[in-house]
Amino acid sequence: MSRRLGVLISGRGSNLQAILDAIAAERLDATVALVISNRRDAAGLARAAAAGVPTLVLEHRSFANRQAFDAALVDALQAARVDLVCLAGFMRLLSPTFIDAFPNAVLNVHPSLLPAFPGVDAQVQAWTHGVKVAGCTVHMVTEDLDAGPIILQATVPVLDDDTAETLAARILVEEHRIYPEAIDVVLAGGWRVEGRRFVRDAKLTAPRDAGVSVSSAE
Ligand code: GAR
Repeated sequence: MSRRLGVLISGRGSNLQAILDAIAAERLDATVALVISNRRDAAGLARAAAAGVPTLVLEHRSFANRQAFDAALVDALQAARVDLVCLAGFMRLLSPTFIDAFPNAVLNVHPSLLPAFPGVDAQVQAWTHGVKVAGCTVHMVTEDLDAGPIILQATVPVLDDDTAETLAARILVEEHRIYPEAIDVVLAGGWRVEGRRFVRDAKLTAPRDAGVSVSSAE
């Protein structure tokens, strides 16, 4: 049975779109059950509506504190019976109240090769630092900002004539590729978290990904 995703956004929603496109193309066996935005003007809400996905706006400012906001998020996601929560450009920190409600089931995409450049404007941080390789990370969300177990990463070169904007655009292409793939990996099971490491079972890992060779002995 197709698993139910809850997607949290704050803005443009291009990663939400990549998830919706992967589902439509049958590269990802899942259903987006609910999209929640903490901003009423998030462009991603229209993308959800266009795909026939229910949307909800919960403006963090209208709650007394983070705890109350997070509790409302949890209630809405549980009412929608989501199996996995995907943060897609959701620019709010989540408290233990939220994370404990979905153990090992909250993912985030971040536009840097974590643990480098956590926090906001990661692409600007990378460009300003002068790194020669940049990229993006899909990770599990823990209480610590951008520090949870890493599921997938992708790299891109930083070119001499890049601006922070052209670099961000190159990274975004990779975000759109690896986020649906990472969701698929998590939904497929056959993995565990060891300390800070996300580890896939060898027998379920494609030889190409695992870096192991398979003998064809028979
Ligand atoms: C993406 O680049 C995402 O990685 C980043 O915000 C952008 C959202 O774009 N998220 C973070 O920086 C989280 N720390 P989108 O709304 O078009 O998906």
